[in-house]
Amino acid sequence: MELKQRIWADPGQYLRAEQPDAPVLFCAPSVLRETARGFIDGFGGLVTYAVKANPEAQVLESLAAAGIGTFDVASPSEMAQVRAVLPGAVLHYHNPVRSEAEVAAALDHGVASWSVDSLSELGKLAGRVPRGSEIAVRFKLPAPGGAYDFGTKFGAGEDAAPALLRAVTARGLRPALTFHPGTQCTEPRAWARHIEAAARIAGAAGVRLVRLNVGGGFPAHRGGAAPALGAIFEAIHAATRRAFGARGPALVCEPGRALVAEGLVLAARVKAIRDGADVFLNDGIYGALAELPLMGVPGRVAVIAPDGTPRRGAALPRAVFGPTCDSLDTLPGRPALPADMVEGDYLLFSGFGAYSAATATRFNGYGELRRVTVLSAGLDSGN
Ligand SMILES: Cc1ncc(COP(=O)(O)O)c(C=O)c1O
Repeated sequence: MELKQRIWADPGQYLRAEQPDAPVLFCAPSVLRETARGFIDGFGGLVTYAVKANPEAQVLESLAAAGIGTFDVASPSEMAQVRAVLPGAVLHYHNPVRSEAEVAAALDHGVASWSVDSLSELGKLAGRVPRGSEIAVRFKLPAPGGAYDFGTKFGAGEDAAPALLRAVTARGLRPALTFHPGTQCTEPRAWARHIEAAARIAGAAGVRLVRLNVGGGFPAHRGGAAPALGAIFEAIHAATRRAFGARGPALVCEPGRALVAEGLVLAARVKAIRDGADVFLNDGIYGALAELPLMGVPGRVAVIAPDGTPRRGAALPRAVFGPTCDSLDTLPGRPALPADMVEGDYLLFSGFGAYSAATATRFNGYGELRRVTVLSAGLDSGN
């Protein structure tokens, strides 16, 4: 019996050979490893991974192989997903609000660091978590810097955070601060402003921070120039030195998007072009394209024919819909797509590893993604 090829050279090779009618998520473990190594070298503190961006086993294994050993988990289910693949992983439970049952499950999983943004949630932990556990007080600033505002749900204001930090030390727990500047944040200054605020909060509390977690929010490449992560890392270190002096806290970060986006490519098929105008895809906002209404359509979308030929027609703005019977299932704006595109072609979304499979639903019976491993996330290496 002939064995079916399990690892493909690139997405183009697979699409030509299989011509799948379901959406496909291509994973390139080598790209995930390379991205993680770049982050570890560039950041120069502890790099942890925010599992919510993509909790799949292959992703966790690839990041661990590159040296990531600590994982920010948002729920007991994510804890179990990490432990199933990496039993020795260090877990940071940085969802600041938890039920009593979730606290108990996290204690069973041996969580090492917790975040809180209120006295009521600190009260649920005090007396239950082992003495000396790290508690990171999550704070927020009025104007964050990301693609959308993360401060509407979590974070103590700068006025309330010092009392919370003092309450952490008073209970014999290790005080840390954490923030999230907002996802896909391209502005280095957003981190600097938060770090300056962290120093003010620690000063007002009279508490020496053990660690400062500068969150996720690091941008992925969505088109145009690749994001300048180096400038963000520099801004973080410079602001920490300025604000805290030579004896500043140890730095931690917990990126989701920036670690995994580039390692995966999504292929969605054109299921119909209605009377030559509106485009219907086999994936949409209830599937792996769920983020698009919030983030806009990224600039890195290529269209290829089933035989792999790139469509190079003039860019034509069109209405693009997902496959469900719901009118909301529409891509934002009128994405410009090649005029020579036809039914059966594939749209390839590069840099699609974050918040794609993780947030896809099975609404209307759609949303099932085929998973394929590739050596390269490049669209076609000519194989
Ligand atoms: C506490 C926390 N850390 C990290 C992240 C990861 O953010 P990003 O994917 O923007 O890096 C999130 C995202 O929701 C979060 O809530």
